Formats: sequence, C-alpha cells, structure tokens
Amino acid sequence: MTEFRTNKGLIDRYRSRLPLASDASVVSLYEGSTPLIPLENIQSLTGKKVEIYAKFEGLNPTGSFKDRGMTVAVSQSVTEGAKALICASTGNTSASAAAYASRAGIKCFVLIPEGKIALGKLAQAMIKGSVVIQILGNFDDGMRLVKEVGENTAVSIVNSINPYRIHGQKTIAFEIIDALGRAPDYHCLPVGNAGNITAHWLGYCEYAGREVFQDTFQSQQGDYNRDKVVDTTPVMCGYQASGAAPFLRGHPVENPETVATAIRIGNPQSWDFALTASKESNGWFDEFSDDEILATQKLLAEKEGIFCEPASAISVTGALKDINSGKIPEGSVIVCTLTGHGLKDPDTAIKQSKAPVIKIEPEFDQVKKAIVDNLE
Ligand code: F0G
Repeated sequence: MTEFRTNKGLIDRYRSRLPLASDASVVSLYEGSTPLIPLENIQSLTGKKVEIYAKFEGLNPTGSFKDRGMTVAVSQSVTEGAKALICASTGNTSASAAAYASRAGIKCFVLIPEGKIALGKLAQAMIKGSVVIQILGNFDDGMRLVKEVGENTAVSIVNSINPYRIHGQKTIAFEIIDALGRAPDYHCLPVGNAGNITAHWLGYCEYAGREVFQDTFQSQQGDYNRDKVVDTTPVMCGYQASGAAPFLRGHPVENPETVATAIRIGNPQSWDFALTASKESNGWFDEFSDDEILATQKLLAEKEGIFCEPASAISVTGALKDINSGKIPEGSVIVCTLTGHGLKDPDTAIKQSKAPVIKIEPEFDQVKKAIVDNLE
C-alpha cells in the first residue's frame, strides 16, 4: 500500500521502548497520539495557580486507553501463533479486544457482566463479530473464569494480567512527557482493575531511568531501551467510586456498585503493583460518590466541551478536591487521564442532563421563541 504521512501507531513510535521481538507482527489501528488538553476554564474556577491538563484517551480508535495495551498484547499473541483471544471486561477491554482481533483475523471471546456495561461498548464487541458471553455475575467473576480458561486452553488472555498490556499502556506517560517537555508533578486517574495505574507508573519510571516493580515487567520480557529522558516522576493520585473502593477499604469488596460501570470492580488484579505505585510516588487513593462523579462529567462537558465517560471524570473530581484543599499545591502541573469517551454511555449522560429539549411545530416564530426564552 502507498506510504503516507500520518501519526503512526504507538508500536511504530515507541518500538525500541517495548519488549517486542524485531520480527514481531504488528497489529495496529494507529492508536495513541491523543491530545493533552489544557483545562483552562476549569482551572480558573479553582482560583488557584495550577496547570491542569486532560489526556483524552477517549480519542483512541475504540474510544478508550485500552487500545494502547491491546496493540502490544495482540501483536505479541499473534506473533506467538494465537488463534483466539479472551478477556473479562466491564466493556472497554472487550470493545478493544474485539477490534484488534478483527484486525488480526482471529477469534475473540468476551465475558461481560449481564446488564452492567454501557450500551456503546456492547455494540462495539457485537458489530466486530466477537462472541459475547454475558455472565450472571460481575467483572471479578469474569476475571476468575478467564484465568481458568487460560490455564486449560490455548486461548490468549488479553486482560491487563497480560504484561504486554501494561507495556502498551505505559506509552501514555511517554506521550505526556514528550508533549510537556517534563514530567507532571501530579498524575490523577481512575482505578478499577488497577492495570492502568501500574502502566502509568512503569512508563514514568522508565522515562526517569528508574528501576520499578522489582523488575517484574522489565526482566520477564527481555531487553529494551530504558534510557533516562527526565529527572522526575509524578505523584500518583488514584481515585475510586465509593461503592467499588477496595483500595480505600484495604481489602477486596464483595458486591461493587457504581454508576461508573467501567470501574465497577471489587477485586483488582494488579493490587500489589498499584500499592507500589502509590507508595513509591508518595501518592494516595481517594473515593468519590456517584453524584460527585456525574457532576464532574457534566462540568467537563459544559465548561470545556469534553465528553468523557463517568469513570474517566473521577480523575478531575479528585484533582479538583486535592487542588482546593491544597494537598496539590499551587504551582503544580497536573495531568488527568480521561480514560474513555462519553459516547460509549449516552444513556447515563441523557439521564443526568438538565438541558432543555424543546418540541415545536416547524415554524420560524416558534424557533425564535425557543431562542429568546433560552438566551439567558
Ligand atoms: N476508565 C475506564 C473508562 C475503564 O474502562 C477502566 C477499566 C478504567 C478506567 C480503570 O482502569 O482497570 O486499569 O484500573 N476498564 C476495564 C474493562 C476493567 O474491562 O474495560 P484499570
């Protein structure tokens, strides 16, 4: 095919920093290169002198950060000869796995909690021809089943317990540093299964030339470039929904519940890695109610024009609380990961929107009245 100029996928851009063999097959949808958007309107609401940026991962090919991990995990699986993928998911992983399986021409099985995933995500898995297995249980049940399948069959697991997922997702830290020319002081993000906080921390540490996770990710997958680019790493701030907050409780939560279905998880698989990231970065975990999460989703849409899904908005809920309390001090550079696109879950957005929907006859006077009545 003709060569053309474009932002390539993240394997092409960061290949030397990924543990893929030089002859590995690359399965890509040209993911990554997402915008780092200054939240100037929201910053001025705080009245504090800080710089807040949103890394809008909703602009990846399937609408979430999962594509970063999936391009690397699926490339590795295909290189190893896998004929089928499997994952448990609250929706985004399944949407992404389905897409990359299609791209690679292999089968994909997704286990999702019945009735508890946003419709857009279900549609994504279905239209791409994955086998959708709805379980009468939650994500944690799905994860348990997937691990059993992995032990007993040759299907390749593409949940974040697959280290190649973490390696792909670490590239978000590279892009942020490449864009800012420095590491942020604070990085705020939602925590569910805890793979993503693990991946962010791995990426930040590698760009700072710092050993991390007792080499778990670095030695297992062979050698790759970990040259130092910056001197500092950010403080990692992980936020959870109150109904699904195992890191705040200090133990797994039996029946997690939250409107932010993406992070409706009680038994995070990357528990130890997330604790390490939090401790080594001098970070913290905090929790927020569904009302607070939805209010921030609306704030981002109304003040910045950014439509992210509820789970993503919690990054900014937490950042604002910590900026206002002074826990994040003035002068700080803060990055919030907006993990997924709001269009995945329009039902939740419509339910909470107070925007007027006005019905009229197709006449000029009626349009005019609607405009005049709502100008203020
Ligand atoms: N935000 C969104 C939009 C997500 O889909 C997820 C996880 C997270 C945050 C949390 O990331 O699990 O790495 O801590 N979604 C997974 C899924 C579990 O199945 O799509 P995490």
